[in-house]
Amino acid sequence: MLFLYVEQNQNTWLEALQKWCPSLSVVTQNDAYDPEQVRWVAAWNPPPGLFAPFQQLKGVFALGAGVDAFVRRPDLADNIPLVRLLDAGMAQQMVEYILWSVLTVQRDFDTYAQLQQQQTWQVSMARSRAEMRLGVLGLGALGQSVAQQLAELGYPVQGWKRSAIDLPGVDVLTGEAGLEQVIRHSDVLISLLPNTPQTQGLLSYERLSRLPQGAVLVNVARGVQVVDEDLIRLLDDGHLRLAVLDVFYPEPLPSEHPFWAHPKVVVTPHVAAETLPYPAAEQVAESLRQLDQGETPAGLVTGREGY
Ligand code: NAP
Ligand code: GLV
Repeated sequence: MLFLYVEQNQNTWLEALQKWCPSLSVVTQNDAYDPEQVRWVAAWNPPPGLFAPFQQLKGVFALGAGVDAFVRRPDLADNIPLVRLLDAGMAQQMVEYILWSVLTVQRDFDTYAQLQQQQTWQVSMARSRAEMRLGVLGLGALGQSVAQQLAELGYPVQGWKRSAIDLPGVDVLTGEAGLEQVIRHSDVLISLLPNTPQTQGLLSYERLSRLPQGAVLVNVARGVQVVDEDLIRLLDDGHLRLAVLDVFYPEPLPSEHPFWAHPKVVVTPHVAAETLPYPAAEQVAESLRQLDQGETPAGLVTGREGY
């Protein structure tokens, strides 16, 4: 038996799981069931205590890429296999979101939106792709797609991760010196890092102030990576041109938060890459089969650092 916990589109999730796991009994909090019969949980944004009643668990499936909400929690033991989604339709959405952010500044659409408020007809000089240096922090399932596809479009791209890899068209850097190099040479800095103790507060005044004058921050990873007051200070003093923010701490973004009304902040409600139930359920079905047969699913989270 699999217990499904999602806050939205529950019926679509049930249909998708039934399509890909036809022999599995799937229950939700709306059903009467015996928790002792539950072997698997598939969930997103699991509330505190969600896993506590399930004492016979064989595995947990995170219905997203980030597993920060699934680690370091008292109701889920570290020895229960945790499997996350790898891409599952999210990479393409992420590429689209980043491209929209980059084009907004490259083609001055942010400036034209402000000029329209003043009914002002004023043309700025557009920049070519080659003049827009992009820095991608985190080159995992999503970051690699973003970095490579934007490099293929002609943008100069640097990327940052923990261990070195060869990524055609992308200059891959590592370590503190690598981060410094990416930050100093990014007209658009994009975070696609997971939420871990090492990445929390990473984008502070000290680091963001080393971005080139007029640079842009795009955060599609997790809100805790950015020090909000530091970002606002750098936007207000004119060092940064724009922040495109899809993720916040906390979420939903509180109504009194200054980001909402800031003229240099674009707010989207954590939608840069949404989980698509059908490709996700297909991946869950395959991972479940693999775990059941003692194989290692590709999305198995091996450490409990947060990714
Ligand atoms: P992933 O495959 O786990 O990739 C994580 C990448 O970050 C890896 O390249 C990893 O490097 C790097 N990294 C981790 N810790 C690091 C550190 N301390 N220093 C430098 N590099 C570090 O994750 P993913 O599937 O690409 O997803 C990335 C994140 O995007 C998720 O964790 C989630 O927070 C966010 N996300 C947001 C949305 C949205 O709608 N806004 C949607 C999906 C995902 P190594 O491989 O070298 O260890
Ligand atoms: C969304 O934020 C995800 O991690 O999938």
